[in-house]
Amino acid sequence: MATAGGGSGPDPGSWGLLRLLSLYVLLAGLCWGNSVERKIYIPLNKTAPCVRLLNATHQIGCQSSISGDTGVIHVVEKEEDLKWVLTDGPNPPYMVLLEGKLFTREVMEKLKGRTSRIAGLAVSLTKPSPTAGFSPSVQCPNDGFGVYSDLYGAEFAHCREVSWNSLGNGLAYEDFSFPIFLLEDENETKVIKQCYQDHNLGQNGSAPAFPLCAMQLFSHMHAVVSTATCMRRSSIQSTFSINPEVVCDPLSDYNVWSMLKPINTSGTLEPDDKVVVAATRLDSRSFFWNVAPGAESAVASFVTQLAAAEALQKAPDVATLPRNVMFVFFQGETFDYIGSSRMVYDMEKGKFPVQLENIDAFVELGQVALRTSLELWMHTDPMSQKNESVRNQVEDLLTTLEKSGTGVPTVVLRRLSQSQALPPSSLQRFLRARNISGVVLADHSDVFHNRYYQSIYDTAENINVSYPEWLSPEEDLDFVTDTAKALADVATVLARALYQLAGGANLSDTVHADPQTVTRLLYGFLIRANNSWFQSVLRQDLRAYLGDGPLQHYTAVSSPTNTTYVVQYALANLTGQVTDLTREQCQDPSHVPNESKDLYEYSWVQGPLNSNETERLPRGVRSTARLARGLSPAPVPLNSNETERLPRCVRSTARLARALSPAFELSQWSSKEYSTWTESRWKDIRARIFLVASKELEFITLMVGFGILVFSLAVTYCINAKADVLFIAPREPGAVSY
Ligand SMILES: *[C@@H]1O[C@H](CO)[C@@H](O)[C@H](O)[C@H]1NC(C)=O
Ligand SMILES: *[C@@H]1O[C@H](CO)[C@@H](O)[C@H](O)[C@H]1NC(C)=O
Ligand SMILES: *[C@@H]1O[C@H](CO)[C@@H](O)[C@H](O)[C@H]1NC(C)=O
Ligand SMILES: *[C@@H]1O[C@H](CO)[C@@H](O)[C@H](O)[C@H]1NC(C)=O
Ligand SMILES: *[C@@H]1O[C@H](CO)[C@@H](O)[C@H](O)[C@H]1NC(C)=O
Ligand SMILES: *[C@@H]1O[C@H](CO)[C@@H](O)[C@H](O)[C@H]1NC(C)=O
Ligand SMILES: *[C@@H]1O[C@H](CO)[C@@H](O)[C@H](O)[C@H]1NC(C)=O
Ligand SMILES: *[C@@H]1O[C@H](CO)[C@@H](O)[C@H](O)[C@H]1NC(C)=O
Ligand SMILES: *[C@@H]1O[C@H](CO)[C@@H](O)[C@H](O)[C@H]1NC(C)=O
Ligand SMILES: *[C@@H]1O[C@H](CO)[C@@H](O)[C@H](O)[C@H]1NC(C)=O
Ligand SMILES: *[C@@H]1O[C@H](CO)[C@@H](O)[C@H](O)[C@H]1NC(C)=O
Ligand SMILES: *[C@@H]1O[C@H](CO)[C@@H](O)[C@H](O)[C@H]1NC(C)=O
Repeated sequence: MATAGGGSGPDPGSWGLLRLLSLYVLLAGLCWGNSVERKIYIPLNKTAPCVRLLNATHQIGCQSSISGDTGVIHVVEKEEDLKWVLTDGPNPPYMVLLEGKLFTREVMEKLKGRTSRIAGLAVSLTKPSPTAGFSPSVQCPNDGFGVYSDLYGAEFAHCREVSWNSLGNGLAYEDFSFPIFLLEDENETKVIKQCYQDHNLGQNGSAPAFPLCAMQLFSHMHAVVSTATCMRRSSIQSTFSINPEVVCDPLSDYNVWSMLKPINTSGTLEPDDKVVVAATRLDSRSFFWNVAPGAESAVASFVTQLAAAEALQKAPDVATLPRNVMFVFFQGETFDYIGSSRMVYDMEKGKFPVQLENIDAFVELGQVALRTSLELWMHTDPMSQKNESVRNQVEDLLTTLEKSGTGVPTVVLRRLSQSQALPPSSLQRFLRARNISGVVLADHSDVFHNRYYQSIYDTAENINVSYPEWLSPEEDLDFVTDTAKALADVATVLARALYQLAGGANLSDTVHADPQTVTRLLYGFLIRANNSWFQSVLRQDLRAYLGDGPLQHYTAVSSPTNTTYVVQYALANLTGQVTDLTREQCQDPSHVPNESKDLYEYSWVQGPLNSNETERLPRGVRSTARLARGLSPAPVPLNSNETERLPRCVRSTARLARALSPAFELSQWSSKEYSTWTESRWKDIRARIFLVASKELEFITLMVGFGILVFSLAVTYCINAKADVLFIAPREPGAVSY
């Protein structure tokens, strides 16, 4: 039998060794590759991106390239550090980790001018908030969409008289071509800074050595140029395709509204039914997506109005008041008055039960929490008061307000010069349509007292809401802060004024807003939404809407948002009644006598925890519950499911009304009349850090890899060629025998 082939080949033993070795290298490579991936990428979990928004003519916000932007991290803590990023650093592009206090217009302009060296920006929160103030909004918010224009009240247009938000630097309305993220968690910021210190600091100012710590930000935006462009594109597509590719969505949500006395919502009011409107706004924004604490710019005012609604509902002769009162909380006002412009539009079109002609007086709450003294300023519109009859009505309105204020010594209502324009307010949208008599109450006589208007720093601290450290969360909920007391006084004045405007006789001294209600609402909206009271007033399927932190008040594209629901249900709790309807009846009360969905809204809410709950638990659980009771005064139930709660049917007039800009209803995407704001869609938003090797090392790695590939191909070829020699199958004994 011929033995292993020609003399030229190596002996089979060494071939076997090689085979084993290459297999080993292959396996090792696979495993190593995996662990490298796991070791070097650290995802950042608590970040907020800046996203692209579009209006009729512009795009604003930020975006990354489609595969994310990567740069070597450089920490900029003082302005001198910028030099490295902008000119000196040898490894551009850089990902700048910017200290919050440097997030100013001046610095941003410098960065914007050098986009070739800047891959992106990660901004860390400054604590405490910058003392000089910070507002990324513009100085004249919603300019052009209020009542004043070059054609009407030109002397007031473009905030010529008063630059309401004088600290506004306009950054939130700029377009950036690189991604910008907010680092919300100090611990993550520390991780990044540590990575930077370990790898990116050169010895004695020389260039640092590879590998370097880098960051990659993904926030690619699908929509470009303007709302007109992206909506037109979607609409053309939708005529040809059943599955059109949508790249932007209108900002929209729901207004919350209720009536003091129920009205038939299936029809409209008679022209001589008079209604007093109390209005405020629900939303705010900041530079970053879905970060909108809005403590002063929204929360304090709508909380005050909620408390006033409760106080008024408790007035003794509500049912006999000659005029009705409507409470309305507008959504999307930040973006060129989406909510109020829609309500006015619906009223004009007869699609809302209340018509413009029914409105007798309009009282709006502007920013009210930062009163520096006792004063609360009454802003009115000079243009409509050129008509004498309107002026007299406004005069009456102010007198009524002043009278209501006299019973509350801590609030002094003050008039302003009749030639001062209104601050940005929903009332302006109503005045565009009709000269109604209205007033805007605010803590400022001219420029905003709010130094953090529409910024990430407009938090509980901004309006002095804080709690003694030793209290538990549930105790905080009921702890009456000074801010709550002050706002309750404002709510009392508002409620009494509304009572009198509605024709109430002389019982107005009995109307009192409850500081306890105000403090609970402030706690829920600014500190911790997931508290026992909010849980008890919500529907069970909405309980996930309560996060452990404060609520954010950005008008989103997926609505209703958390704030909208919570305000609606809080309003229902504060102004509604608990009924004894069953769950089924609550969902469909049409067969129950004396109940009507035309007049009321019915909601099956979770209700408070059942305090008898431990007695009903199975035995084993009961004993541990007792044990727990011995250790802590209030055992927390394992899950808040219905068996442990006392659900109930609440009947109220608190309803939602669509807040989508009429521009989209009318397909007028370049409208100058209505808000046209849309939000771009995106696929992937994330951030991560990792170590990068130098370009040379990457090249060498590639070359080595390529070399190995060529080598292994060669080896495989040889093995293949000599396969008959290398892999001799041992002959089967049976085969030999025949
Ligand atoms: C983010 O979460 C992942 C997984 O939980 C963790 O490995 C990573 O370290 C976190 N990132 C930071 C910066 O802490
Ligand atoms: C769109 O927004 C930009 C940036 O804020 C602004 O300059 C422009 O006037 C806006 N366009 C319209 C039609 O409102
Ligand atoms: C940061 O880490 C410290 C210590 O690990 C911890 O006590 C603190 O709660 C963390 N802070 C945040 C915001 O997670
Ligand atoms: C840095 O500079 C100091 C003094 O100038 C010197 O003593 C030290 O050796 C330098 N370190 C390196 C790594 O060059
Ligand atoms: C409400 O109005 C509609 C239509 O006008 C009417 O059919 C309905 O009976 C009214 N409901 C109540 C409770 O009055
Ligand atoms: C908030 O608290 C600070 C310090 O306690 C005080 O100086 C300031 O006047 C307070 N502001 C308001 C609006 O109450
Ligand atoms: C003033 O307003 C009233 C309605 O409020 C209107 O009837 C009247 O015609 C107006 N007067 C002038 C001079 O415009
Ligand atoms: C409001 O009154 C002013 C001055 O009388 C008038 O010029 C304007 O057209 C009126 N506005 C509306 C919407 O009627
Ligand atoms: C809002 O509700 C969603 C659930 O719908 C929840 O995941 C999110 O955490 C809530 N946001 C806040 C700020 O509570
Ligand atoms: C409102 O909530 C409180 C506390 O949970 C509860 O006692 C009260 O009955 C509720 N009122 C209504 C009308 O739901
Ligand atoms: C709690 O238990 C007491 C006595 O067992 C009973 O009288 C009361 O009605 C129960 N309350 C509820 C809400 O079940
Ligand atoms: C309540 O919890 C029990 C057991 O934990 C579960 O069987 C039941 O389905 C839950 N009910 C609801 C409405 O979630």
